[in-house]
Order: sequence, then structure tokens, then C-alpha cells
Amino acid sequence: MLTSIKARIITFYMAVLFVTLSALGVFLYFSLSKIVYDSIDSSLLSKAKALATLVSMDAGDETEFRFSDEVMWEYNSPKAKSFFQIRRFNGSVIEKSASLGGAELPFRAGENRTRFETVRLKGMPARLVNFHVPIGYEQNNRKTGTPAGSKDHGLIIQCAEDIQYQANLLKRYMIVLSLSILSIMIISASGGFLIAKRALAPIKDISETIGRISASNLSERIDAEDIPEELRVMASSFDRTFERLERSFNRQKQFTADASHELRTPLSVILSQSEIILRKDRTGTEYRNTLTAIREAAKMMTAIVQKLLTIARLSADKVELKFETINPGEIIRKSVKLLTPLAEQKGISINISADEQRRTTGDRAALLELFVNLLDNAIKYNVPQGRIDISVKKEADFVVTEIRDTGIGIPESDLGKVFDRFYRVDKSRAKESGGAGLGLSICNEIARLHGGRVEIKSKAGEGTTVSVYLKVE
Ligand SMILES: Nc1ncnc2c1ncn2[C@@H]1O[C@H](COP(=O)(O)OP(=O)(O)O)[C@@H](O)[C@H]1O
Ligand SMILES: [Mg+2]
Repeated sequence: MLTSIKARIITFYMAVLFVTLSALGVFLYFSLSKIVYDSIDSSLLSKAKALATLVSMDAGDETEFRFSDEVMWEYNSPKAKSFFQIRRFNGSVIEKSASLGGAELPFRAGENRTRFETVRLKGMPARLVNFHVPIGYEQNNRKTGTPAGSKDHGLIIQCAEDIQYQANLLKRYMIVLSLSILSIMIISASGGFLIAKRALAPIKDISETIGRISASNLSERIDAEDIPEELRVMASSFDRTFERLERSFNRQKQFTADASHELRTPLSVILSQSEIILRKDRTGTEYRNTLTAIREAAKMMTAIVQKLLTIARLSADKVELKFETINPGEIIRKSVKLLTPLAEQKGISINISADEQRRTTGDRAALLELFVNLLDNAIKYNVPQGRIDISVKKEADFVVTEIRDTGIGIPESDLGKVFDRFYRVDKSRAKESGGAGLGLSICNEIARLHGGRVEIKSKAGEGTTVSVYLKVE
């Protein structure tokens, strides 16, 4: 079908134009033909009336014609263009003009009113009037001015005229009109084509710009200055899309760079340790120590790779979450149990005050991972002999789990970045505790997949409060 906008615009425009012009043409043609026929008809009628005054008929159906040569010259030559014929009401012809020759004017019985029609006479178009003269027309007309007499007794005067000339004129008029319409259509089509082309030129420009923008120059934008208003919305939504693409592309690049960087450290430990130990023969203890270091590095890499995989799967929405009714208190107690040894090492006490009535829907394993990660932070970044208070309560449509610690806190300037992948507030300190800065990103993704969110409030040196919002079941 019509796939291009240009073709659609022009087709629609031409269709509208064609209908309008055709209607105008038909109107003009019929107006002129009405004017022409009206003038022929009125002249025919006066001729018929003139003939009627020259005919008389008595009650005994005897007719008398008083046709003079002056009147008849118009009808008498066989080449004349005017014709007449006089009939009785029953249709029988009692007189006709010499111009008719052997032909006869057509007649329809049973009609008794004045009627005009176009007929063919001797192969030519002709206009015909059937004029009814009731008996006594002439006499009464003269005395009282009104025709009288019986309805089925009288004469029909048929007057006709060759209208070949007028018919030709109308035909020529029709041809001129059609040609005019055709040329207007052709001119308009080319005009429409140019207008459509000019109107659509900016779209071509925009698509060229879009075509130019690729992964390597995602920062280029469509110049909204020269674009018509109607297309600015489209252009700016493209620009916004590019903006988002660029940001996510940059994030991706950053992420890859960070991931390689994180993995390089344990890898170089493994490489250097093994190279050193292989230089000469070593004692068993030396081998054992090196292998332990290597194992630690490999463990670290495994943990990072594991977390990266989790993040990749979570953010690509590729994880299959099994949603079920969950008591947050129960998950909290499970997480605390898992991390109790770590807390005991640092002498940290954990208190839970959960509203046991609260229920949410979620994936058990994912939510456990979320709370283990948060609790792990609360322990890792706590002070020795510190405290952790966990509460579960309802807030509007959410079940809110709050984990409050008495740890080192997060400086205000870093608070906005802790959810970024690989972001750690204090790299040297985090290194000891083994974190790669991926925990909070994972928590964030898990909460997002549950239709919730994680909020973090903190004051450096005083402690941190992390709130997890999950939808009420
Ligand atoms: N409870 C907390 N108290 C203090 N700092 C925190 C806490 N939770 C997170 N942080 C800071 O946010 C950073 C990011 O946390 P996270 O993504 O879990 O990474 P990781 O624990 O692997 O370092 C941490 O490095 C830490 O500096
Ligand atoms: Mg962590």
C-alpha cells in the first residue's frame, strides 16, 4: 500500500481536490445547460402558443388553420430547423410542418400537461414541447382571457427545434471544464509534491543525525533549533533516549573497568605468589603459606564473580523469582542466625523487635540475600561492642524493616553513591573487611524487583539506619 507519508499526503490531497473540482465542474455544467435549455424551452413555448392562436376547433371536431406564409416560412423548407405537429388528444396527427418530411414528433398518449423533452429527430438532438390546447381555447381566450373547455377534448401542439448547435456547445464546454480540472490536478500534484518534500525534509535530517549517532559518539544530539515545532517533541524524545543510552553505556563501561580492576588485584597476588615460590625449592611450610595466600585470593575472586553474576542477572530481570507470602521477622531471624558468629567476633549485640503480624510477598532466597547483605554491613562497619537494632513495622502500603547500627557511619558526601557498583566509602578500610562495594547494589536490585526500595540515612561517627520498603501483601 502507500508506505511513504509523502505519497499518503499527496493521494489524500488529490482525492479531496478531485472531489471538490468535479463537484464544481458538474455544477457549472448543469448551470449552463439549464440556462441554455430554459431559453430554448421558453422560445418553443411561445412558438406553440403562437400556433395555438392560429388554430380553431369547433364542437364537431372540425379544425381550421389560419397559417399565413409569413408564419410558415420558418417551418416550410425541408432544411428548416424548426418543426411542428398538431395532434388530437387521442394522438392522431392532423397537421405537421413541411420541415418534418417523413419523420414524426414522438408522442406519449394520456398526458395532458405541457411538457418539455429532448428527443432525437432525423438523427439530430432536438428539444420538443407538447402544448395542450383544450377546445375553444382561441375563442375563450379572446373573450375572457382564460382557456376553457373539456379536458379530453382538444389539440396537442408539438413544437420542436434542432439543438445540434447548443448540444455541441455544451459538449465543448464539458471538454474545456474537464481539461481545466485535469490541468489544475496536475499543477496541484506537483505543488503538493514539492510542499510535502519540503515539509518532510527535517525528518530526513533527523534520521541522518540519528544514523550518525553510534556507540562511539553517543554524546551527539539532534539540533532542535532548525526543526519545525511539530517535530521538536520527537527530536527531544530521541535526545532523551540518547541521553539515557549514553548514561547507561558509560555506566556499563565504568562497570567493566571497575570489575577488571577488582579482579586484577587477587589475580596479581596469585601470579606473583606462584612465581616467587617456583623460583627455587621451598620448604613445606613455605609452600603451605603461599598456597593459603593463593586460596584467599581465589576466594576473593570467586566472591566478586559470584556477586557480579548476581547483579547481572538481577538487573537484566533474568532471575526467576518465586513469590510467596513472607513474614519479614522470620527472614530477619534467619539472617541474624547466619551472621551471629561474625557479630560475636566483634562483640556486637543484635536486638529484633518485629511486628509478627506483617506479611509481604517475595522470593525467600532473594530477600534473605538482601537482609544478610545489610546485616553484614551493619556488623562490618560497626564499632567493637556496638549495637544493632532491627524493627519491622507498617508504613502506608509498605512493610518497613529498619536496621539501625551504632557504627562508623557514612559521610554525607558519599551517601548518594553507596548504591553504585563497586563504590566503597573508604577503600583501604573496606579491603580489610573484604567487601567489593557490590552488596548495596544487589540489595537495591532485589528491592526493585519486589516493587520496593532501600533507603539509607547516616551520620558519620554516629551510625547508619537502612530501611527496606517491601509491599504489604
Ligand atoms: N551500615 C553501614 N555503616 C557504614 N557504612 C556503610 C554501611 N553500609 C554500607 N556502608 C558503606 O557503603 C559502601 C558500600 O556498601 P556495599 O555495597 O555493601 O559494599 P561492601 O560492603 O562490599 O563494601 C561500603 O563500602 C561502606 O563504606
Ligand atoms: Mg556490603
